[in-house]
Amino acid sequence: MEYNPIKKEEVSKMSVMPNLLDYEKAREDFRWEDISKELDELDDGCLNIAYEIIDRHAKTSLKDRVALYWEGDNGEGEEYSFSDLCRLTNRFANVLKNLGLNKGDRVFTYGDRIPEIYISLIAALKAGGVIGPLFSAFGPDAVKDRLGDCEARFLITTPKLARIVEKVVEDLPALEKVIIINRKNVAYELKEKEASYEDLMKNASDLFDIEKTDKEDYAIIHYTSGTTGKPKGVVHAHEAVVGHYATAKYVLDLHPDDIYWCTADPGWVTGTSYGIFGPWSNGISQVVYEGGFRASNWYKVIEKYKVTVWYSAPTAIRMLMKAGEGVVAKYDLKSLRYLCSVGEPLNPEAILWGNKAFGLPFHDNWWQTETGCIQIANYPIQDVRPGSMGRPFPGVTATILDENCEKELPPGKEGHLALKAGWPSMFRTFWNRQELYESKFQNGWYITGDRATMDADGYFWFVGRADDVINTAGHLVGPFEVESALMEHPAVAEAGVIGVPDSLAMEVVKAFVSLKDGYEPSDELRRDIKKFAKKKLHAVACPRKIDFLPGLPKTKSGKIMRRLLKARELGLPEGDTSTLEE
Ligand code: PRX
Repeated sequence: MEYNPIKKEEVSKMSVMPNLLDYEKAREDFRWEDISKELDELDDGCLNIAYEIIDRHAKTSLKDRVALYWEGDNGEGEEYSFSDLCRLTNRFANVLKNLGLNKGDRVFTYGDRIPEIYISLIAALKAGGVIGPLFSAFGPDAVKDRLGDCEARFLITTPKLARIVEKVVEDLPALEKVIIINRKNVAYELKEKEASYEDLMKNASDLFDIEKTDKEDYAIIHYTSGTTGKPKGVVHAHEAVVGHYATAKYVLDLHPDDIYWCTADPGWVTGTSYGIFGPWSNGISQVVYEGGFRASNWYKVIEKYKVTVWYSAPTAIRMLMKAGEGVVAKYDLKSLRYLCSVGEPLNPEAILWGNKAFGLPFHDNWWQTETGCIQIANYPIQDVRPGSMGRPFPGVTATILDENCEKELPPGKEGHLALKAGWPSMFRTFWNRQELYESKFQNGWYITGDRATMDADGYFWFVGRADDVINTAGHLVGPFEVESALMEHPAVAEAGVIGVPDSLAMEVVKAFVSLKDGYEPSDELRRDIKKFAKKKLHAVACPRKIDFLPGLPKTKSGKIMRRLLKARELGLPEGDTSTLEE
């Protein structure tokens, strides 16, 4: 493929000198302890993410720098400096304390990307809470499962979403207060347990003493899907900010004058690690856009705010490709200087297209909810190898392990992608699932659940998931959750769910269902099952396609053989079928 990556020799011609100038030297010299010294600890060696990202800048000449350029869905704009955010998060931290928040209590947010959601999350960290940001697209069951699993005490939401919370509030005995942000002042009657964000903020003080959290105290929970069971709460500690800070500086290459835009929602770990913690721990101005995807709106945002560094995801890039270069040409995007991507494999065509459309390649990087920060990346200083995730971050050791996760494999051999345990933003547990957590580690390696190869120069190449988890538009979907939701439909006897290839979203969810006696396959029933699933699941997890089968292939022990469903769907060899039920 024709492709001209940035050559090392060309770096001197770059408008901004990269923060990471010598990868090999950085690998040799790198110490996480040195990175920690670039942050300001609280007294007695305590560390609190909120202090590192906001308050420490509010004490310096950065205090008046715009931290947040907020662009609303309808084109309205608001600006918040670091000192504004310091004051507002102090207020809301007081609100939470006054409502009785104790250190370690779980505080969830459930709303669109509006400033108050960001303020609430940071304030909860200040007050010593453990934050759980949720996507506004979640349905009632998704909310109930997450808040219920970790017994959240506080939820911050909006009038529209409060109607969904209402359906499950009875099932959440630990939930004490639901705080309603009503920025548009719509008519809304507060119900039992509910309080008004605006009223509480009016009466709160601007001064707050940040909770002296230890670096090991829990700070963040993100729920992620696995092959079995409900989504698990991946827990990160305050020390994670060391990883966010370092990778935002050396991988996203953030510089003081940058205007940075991460397109991710805080409901996804990318939207917290790199939509809150990474840029703000570096004191960088960032844009938050409330609206959803539309090529012209996205380019408008870049043009209006003169975005310089842009972090997005392959599905979005493929959608931009689909919208075409004609739309790009309508906007002045000269401000862009560096582009990154994460979440799914970034196909070489997308890199090539970025180069053509913006004059810049997208730099792919790889990480997970569990890793908390970027682990493998393409850097500005290095040639991009289209299709490769890049090389490990200087403080990270990655390898490929054999089938038993015992031996390291030589270059070129496919196996399990594993990371040497111990980087600061490594997850600390799965909430209430310590045994499951421990099962992810072997001989000091964290086994990522991805399969990959490494080439002779140390570049890693993604092969696929080692499990049945589906990656659709960058979102992980556990087939079990979807199957469970489908099986609640009165007509469904059994369900098997797989990911099938899709040109935009990489994979989409496809379900195979067998029906109970008395039900016949029909388009109407298919539509009804889809509608039913939509109520239970996040929009991306709903099956795009449903096929009816008289019965599903199962193992002798009764487990649905998704592997076989997939092989049959894609016309691939069926492999070992010795365990197939007669
Ligand atoms: O399978 C890998 C895929 O996404 C998974 C992590 O998903 P999640 O925890 O939701 O992501 C959090 C932040 C990125 C990985 O195990 N993945 C992520 N990045 C890449 C990727 N697959 C291929 N290439 C990538 N760059």
